[in-house]
Amino acid sequence: MRIVGIELVDSLKVEVVVGRNILGLLGKFLANRGYGKAFLVYDRRLPREFIEEVVGGLKKAKLELCTVAVEGGEHLKTVDTVVTLWKKMFDFRLSRGDMVIGFGGGTLTDTVGFAAATYMRGIDWTVIPTTLLAMADAAIGGKTGVNFGAKNLVGAYHHPKLVVEDVKLVKTLSWEDYVSGLAEVVKHALLSSREFYQWLAENIEALRKKDLDAVEEAITKSVEYKLSIVSRDYRETKGLRMLLNLGHTIGHAIERALDYQIRHGHAISIGLIAELWASHKLLGLPVEKIGEVATLLQSLGLPTTPPREASLDRVLDFIRLDKKRRGDKLVLPLLEDIGKPKLVTLDLDEALQLLGWAYKRSLSGAKP
Ligand SMILES: NC(=O)c1ccc[n+]([C@@H]2O[C@H](COP(=O)([O-])OP(=O)(O)OC[C@H]3O[C@@H](n4cnc5c(N)ncnc54)[C@H](O)[C@@H]3O)[C@@H](O)[C@H]2O)c1
Repeated sequence: MRIVGIELVDSLKVEVVVGRNILGLLGKFLANRGYGKAFLVYDRRLPREFIEEVVGGLKKAKLELCTVAVEGGEHLKTVDTVVTLWKKMFDFRLSRGDMVIGFGGGTLTDTVGFAAATYMRGIDWTVIPTTLLAMADAAIGGKTGVNFGAKNLVGAYHHPKLVVEDVKLVKTLSWEDYVSGLAEVVKHALLSSREFYQWLAENIEALRKKDLDAVEEAITKSVEYKLSIVSRDYRETKGLRMLLNLGHTIGHAIERALDYQIRHGHAISIGLIAELWASHKLLGLPVEKIGEVATLLQSLGLPTTPPREASLDRVLDFIRLDKKRRGDKLVLPLLEDIGKPKLVTLDLDEALQLLGWAYKRSLSGAKP
């Protein structure tokens, strides 16, 4: 078990625990810190024994407990779900000094985190991510929110006090949900360093087999990288954190164009390759690197070419609604090389032209 404790600004401290068979730890942690009530929202698709491990730990620590079961998935990320959670929090007389717990994948933790951020102007919360994507990415960094017209349009920064990452949970994930998480790991490796990227390339087989040592290492490297960025720019005001959006300008637009009938990581994988083409055009990223990354993503089981149903026109329409837009400018994270990201600000028209070209180029199967 590894503990990554990190001090963010305003004395906010997030503790991230990564290990195996650690779900029961939570009850002890909360009791030691004097929390009275726990409001646990979990994904009902989780295997019974995992739910019992968490609930058992909380009961043993003698916390007054309210449990809410929901079904994870993009359909959950709505304002309606948040209203339902607020009502249940109120009925349970949840107050400051109590704890909200989100136990599920990224869709659940984004939504529950937003309910915690807004109820009583912010109540403490804990994340127990249950998908690889949530462990490597969504649970880290305090971004919470729901979809509203565009992806993640309504949200808040609200850092959890604790993140408990039990890697054994990936064993019960479907293959598609598992590889979806690998896309965000590849994104972190591309942004972070040649070493991380090389480690991934050398561990494809182990990761495909869900070897828990490899999975734990991939998660730890991702978490450490993301925390290193978030701790320096946690409200995305200095530009640094925007780098983490690599692949997401096109990825989010594809998700929206397909009405979320594609997994987040799959859309990001396609978005990564298209945005590497944009990086080639604008920053001279060598074409061979695009082929190399496409091969890595494909070996991990991820798609790299846009689906026919996500037409260029629709994708460009949704890019116009992107949160990274600043008036008539769009801020784009691109790559000069692996481990060398750069933020570029373009006029909206120029950005749409570049991304349109890159999208069409990626349709050719990412062959140099
Ligand atoms: N907040 C952030 O910084 C951030 C970062 C990246 C992505 N996200 C968001 O994360 C979301 C995607 O999250 P996700 O990929 O975890 O999807 P998800 O929450 O929909 O989970 C995927 C599926 O796996 C099931 N599931 C969850 N854990 C399981 C387990 N251990 N065993 C078996 N089944 C399990 C769920 O019921 C669901 O059907 C997107 O909405 C994306 O926008 C947020």
